[in-house]
Amino acid sequence: MYDVNRIRDDFPILSREVNGKPLVYLDNGASAQKPLAVLEAMDTAYRHEYANVHRGLHYLSNLATEHYEAVRGKIAAFLGAGDEREIIFNTGSTAGINLVSYGWAAPRIEPGDEIVLSVMEHHANIVPWHFLRERQGAVLKWVDVDVNGDLDPQAVIDAMGPKTKIVAVTHMSNVLGTVVDVATICRAARERGIVSVIDGSQAAVHMPVNVAEIGCDFYAFTGHKLYGPSGSGALYARMERQEEMRPFHGGGDMIREVRKDAISYNDPPMKFEAGTPGIVATIGLGAAIDYVSGIGMDAIAAHEREIRDYAQTKLTGLNWLNVQGNSKGKGAIFSFTMQGGAHPHDISTVIDRRGVAVRAGHHCAQPLMTHLGVTATCRASFGLYNTREEVDVLVDALEFCQELFG
Ligand code: ALA
Repeated sequence: MYDVNRIRDDFPILSREVNGKPLVYLDNGASAQKPLAVLEAMDTAYRHEYANVHRGLHYLSNLATEHYEAVRGKIAAFLGAGDEREIIFNTGSTAGINLVSYGWAAPRIEPGDEIVLSVMEHHANIVPWHFLRERQGAVLKWVDVDVNGDLDPQAVIDAMGPKTKIVAVTHMSNVLGTVVDVATICRAARERGIVSVIDGSQAAVHMPVNVAEIGCDFYAFTGHKLYGPSGSGALYARMERQEEMRPFHGGGDMIREVRKDAISYNDPPMKFEAGTPGIVATIGLGAAIDYVSGIGMDAIAAHEREIRDYAQTKLTGLNWLNVQGNSKGKGAIFSFTMQGGAHPHDISTVIDRRGVAVRAGHHCAQPLMTHLGVTATCRASFGLYNTREEVDVLVDALEFCQELFG
């Protein structure tokens, strides 16, 4: 039985007030709050178990290394990767996709080679590919979403041609909540010798993910959206792809030997992890994975489906609200504008006075904004601790806005 109130007790920040009102935190798509289990794991790591990893032979260094490295296996299990060496620690999806662009793609892209993208990608899954357009003459091929915000996998497959090297798509839109059938896309890419890059920043938070079933080459995810610390994350990178990749950052830990006239690299994944890493952030991410796994990703997904359905009914019932996208099976993420022209920034500021935190702006998805014919939206994005009552508070706050601006 999913006890949302008990879960809420695990998150100290949720009991605070904002502007004299109970906090209603609906900005989980941007970053989620942290449970005590994560805060305590990080506190213990710093307070009692801290030293640099991989470098010392002393007790604390060995202990920190053991706790840090244990997270690799946790992430591999969480994402369904068969081999923990397929997990490259980093600071999040942006770092992961940039590593793929620089490390795998840049040495292979010739002028005219194509990269297939959907129009609803986050900038983190666009800008690294633009670098290859600017610097190496790659061609970006865009696939639109339909009126519901769905991405037809066949349209993505149809965009793949003989010059396509990479297909890069999100698993769940950070703006519309649309879930993409990435397994079908990755299977088709594989049959054509095209490398697949999946942005799992949102999906990995809201539903069970299995990279083996998806069949992707790369899957990027971010710890701070998964109730873990900011600055934590990982890239799943299929072992064969890692063997083909050049390193991005050079420095300690990623080398085997450095001489005046030559260097040799450490084995993957260490080859891609230069410098002292986010030791405690990664340990905190491990605690976050234990925490969500303890609840169960299926149970979290079921709870969020219920919140999604409730919010969908309530929000689409407001005839002066334009809710963007209506994909069946979407995640609990709602982007909307108000008829009558109130700017999303103003809406967000007004409802913040009632304790409701949402994001307003282009959500780092400007091509999608252009496709939708808007410059900005408000976005309410729900997480494992949100309740129906919070949907009601959001709706009341929006009704107040409508009276003010309508
Ligand atoms: N990618 C984050 C968002 O969607 C920051 O808000």
